[in-house]
Amino acid sequence: MTGNQGIQVLPPSAAERIAAGEVVDRPGSVVKELVENSLDAGARRITVELVGAGRRLIRVTDDGEGIAASELPLAFQRFATSKIRAAEDLQRIHTYGFRGEALPSVAAVARVEMVSRVRDGEASRITIEGGTQTSHGPASGPVGTTVTVENLFFNTPARRRFLKSPAREAAVIIEAIEALALAAPDVAFRLIDEGREILWYPAEPFADRARRVLGPRVAAHTLELSARAPVDLEGILGTPQAAQLRRTHQRFLVNRRPVRSPLLARALTEAYHTLIPDDRHPAAVLALRLPPQEVDANVHPRKVEVRFVDERRLFDVVTREVRRALLRVPLVHVVSGARTAGLGEVPGGPEERPADGRSPAHDAPAAGLLLALSTPDAPTRAPVRWPSIRVIGQLALTYIIGEARGDLILIDQHAAHERVLFERLMARRAGEAGVAQGLVAPVVLDLAPGEAEVLPELSPALRAIGFEVEPFGPATVRLTAVPAIAAGRGPEALFRACLHDLEGDDGPHAGRSLEERLAIATACHTAVRAGDPLDLVEMAALIEALGQTEDPFSCFHGRPTMIQMRAGDLERWFYRRT
Ligand SMILES: Nc1ncnc2c1ncn2[C@@H]1O[C@H](COP(=O)(O)OP(=O)(O)OP(=O)(O)O)[C@@H](O)[C@H]1O
Ligand SMILES: [Mg+2]
Repeated sequence: MTGNQGIQVLPPSAAERIAAGEVVDRPGSVVKELVENSLDAGARRITVELVGAGRRLIRVTDDGEGIAASELPLAFQRFATSKIRAAEDLQRIHTYGFRGEALPSVAAVARVEMVSRVRDGEASRITIEGGTQTSHGPASGPVGTTVTVENLFFNTPARRRFLKSPAREAAVIIEAIEALALAAPDVAFRLIDEGREILWYPAEPFADRARRVLGPRVAAHTLELSARAPVDLEGILGTPQAAQLRRTHQRFLVNRRPVRSPLLARALTEAYHTLIPDDRHPAAVLALRLPPQEVDANVHPRKVEVRFVDERRLFDVVTREVRRALLRVPLVHVVSGARTAGLGEVPGGPEERPADGRSPAHDAPAAGLLLALSTPDAPTRAPVRWPSIRVIGQLALTYIIGEARGDLILIDQHAAHERVLFERLMARRAGEAGVAQGLVAPVVLDLAPGEAEVLPELSPALRAIGFEVEPFGPATVRLTAVPAIAAGRGPEALFRACLHDLEGDDGPHAGRSLEERLAIATACHTAVRAGDPLDLVEMAALIEALGQTEDPFSCFHGRPTMIQMRAGDLERWFYRRT
């Protein structure tokens, strides 16, 4: 290409159109900038109107403080802002805007009309087309501001070509409005598309607004999070049941600014670890307040990202607080349209035993189950509210059927036992006494080449969990102890199964520590399986042990351990109640 025509400064109109591209890349960003201005002006009500998904018309009307007639042209000048006075003010921004760039950028690529009135002044009106002021004079109107943007990108065909379908652009606009509506729950929002009202939010508390934005399906399965120290954090968390296939239901606010944050998304993932399957994403709205000097809001042209001064600490705090909130309430998977998740209303504690007594013994009690469950020094944790469950029986040799205050409870015996064993292995590792149980007759094992290879690397984790293995010739080892809670299983088969699970790093648990993966493998191969008959005493013991775990409501694969059918729903199904 022979494009070298010598260096020249661009004429202002061209420069402005180029700069505008940074701020205004689609109708959604126009809506975002205008609504932010309305919020900065202290509006209590904001109405957004659209025609042609914003391409033909965007109008934002607010009841904010307005702009004085004489200042109206200034609002459209680059770097003209009423919000900061000097660069140092960037350290303590509390408004959405601060650059004085949005309105000139929009006006450079559209036809814009602004009508505004301050409390003690007259209304005035200004029009600007492609960056050139075309009129300015008196008008009439209430206190507040109305900005109308027409023919967006009329003079930037490339921009226009890159727009997606009207439906997609409308979705982006709605998302922008939702994000700001979360940031300002005390402001009423209305969205009118082609003359039809499609969204209306009354002024309301943050938690209500957050649930409204998450939508009724997710809102039915949420809990509140509120922490003051060391970070001011408020949020609405979806229960595991509300987890989504995509990250669409995660919203983050930092000092009232909606932001994208891979860091906070990762913190959520970490907090929900083992509570939901690895391929699902938590639903959550998180609002953080940090001292302004700990956040840099000026790192992205559209201000949709921020930088945190101490990322590591923030990650840890958010992960911990979210996890704590999740574990405080029972995260039972509730079937059907019950409004709240969990057994929250069911008091009662683990001390209440099933009243049935023993059942006729099955032919073969599950190997090691009672041994494993009766470990005397089982860790006791601050228990979540665990219902007292009366065991009714076993279904299909797979599920435990129980009753809690008239609710029907179904427990997956394998998943439940896995959770119990996993937590015990993790809690009692690291050299504590009683972890390992010596084998009366040590087992000599020939290792396959793959197994022999991974063994040295695995040794510390094996020992921590309770396996004791010593070399016994080339490619031969002697197994002298196994985890105490797995003593009921054949030691050789268990050991080989665990090694097999850990070979190759590409399984669903690849991201976890070796110890954790080994505990998962051990728990998985030790736990009772579907098809193992259990008697009533065993089932009651399992349920009680499950109730003692930190997270009784899901196994570490993120599958539920328990499903609950509400008494009320049962009544409705049988038309005892409507
Ligand atoms: N709806 C409104 N109500 C009252 N004043 C407004 C409104 N919209 C804009 N203004 C005034 O116009 C100025 C310019 O707005 P503009 O959005 O271009 O810049 P900004 O908000 O200051 O910074 P940024 O470019 O970061 O958004 C604002 O500083 C504000 O004084
Ligand atoms: Mg602005």
